Amino acid sequence: MTRPKRIGIVTGGGDCPGLNPVIRAVVKTAVQDYGMSAVGIEDGFNGLLGDGPAGLIELDGPAIRGILHQGGTIIGTTNNGHPFRFPVRAPDGSVHMEDRSALLPQRLQEHGIEALVIVGGDGTMAIAQQLHSLGIPVVGVPKTIDNDLSVTDTTFGFDTACNICMEAIDRLHTTAASHDRAMFIEVMGRHVGWIALSAGLAGGADVILIPEIPYRAEQIVEKIQQRQARGRNFSIIVVAEGAMPVGGGPSMLPNPFSGGRPSLGGAAQRVALEVAGHIDLEIRVTVLGHVQRGGSPSHLDRVLGTRFGHAAARLVAEERWGQMVCLRGTEITSCAISDAIGQLKAVDPLGQLVQTARATGISFGD
Ligand code: F6P
Repeated sequence: MTRPKRIGIVTGGGDCPGLNPVIRAVVKTAVQDYGMSAVGIEDGFNGLLGDGPAGLIELDGPAIRGILHQGGTIIGTTNNGHPFRFPVRAPDGSVHMEDRSALLPQRLQEHGIEALVIVGGDGTMAIAQQLHSLGIPVVGVPKTIDNDLSVTDTTFGFDTACNICMEAIDRLHTTAASHDRAMFIEVMGRHVGWIALSAGLAGGADVILIPEIPYRAEQIVEKIQQRQARGRNFSIIVVAEGAMPVGGGPSMLPNPFSGGRPSLGGAAQRVALEVAGHIDLEIRVTVLGHVQRGGSPSHLDRVLGTRFGHAAARLVAEERWGQMVCLRGTEITSCAISDAIGQLKAVDPLGQLVQTARATGISFGD
């Protein structure tokens, strides 16, 4: 195959600050350095595999102008566009899953798209790997605010999310101190506690609860009481949404928006209830939610997104299919997408960051 002339860009899974810098850098590099053109596929793979007209956005100069500082993704994303399990709504309103992967090469050809840059987290990279196995020319770009992708030292979006959480913790500090309250703040991190740990460390949390270190409510009570004994009549407890007690699992709540099926939620509320009645402080619970994923990317995420996008366009030009860009130390390099999937990067309970947090007086509730 000769070097592709036209690239399709897909953003899949949850959005993340830094996606637009990636898109911009892929397009600029592809156009300026390699004379290629680029098109955005709307809402994951839906733009090509949906039943209506194709959802494609021509990514020319005007399309990518002024997007470096914008959060989200200008080409849209979805959690529900899996080519191998594509949701199709029947006339009676019911939804069934269809394997539409065979349609993809045909649709790509129809639109003159010769290679795909697929930007996403673990699930999207697993799709990228499956498409690669089918012979579709793909390269990957890792994305997640949770920072749980192995192989890359970090992902864009993580820094922005941590900054948002840190600012929230700072703000809770002043109101907690004014009212003599224990403030519980729930942050994202369904499988791993990187955001809770990093933002908690930066915000001066008193307790950080993460999935990797199961907690005991008694330990949290003890920490809060020790602080009170020193005249510190408030405490900040940062809780990753996937945090769990010793011998228990993550907190799940019925989700009224998905037919009442349980989904992750309520971790901070659960700990707060376990602690209430054992401490002499008022309690308040704050759940940050999707605020953490919104808004303008930080300086670090703009730079990392730009570097990833540039490197991804180069991988396409060099026809290094099945590779994903990644950050190792200070260098952008690449690895096989297959090496990046299925193994989450968890916080090491004995690692330096946890040790540093403990040394500065932070309790993990263990
Ligand atoms: O990107 C991962 C994540 O940020 C998780 O920490 C969180 O549980 C999830 O996204 C929520 O995403 P959504 O509500 O968009 O499905």
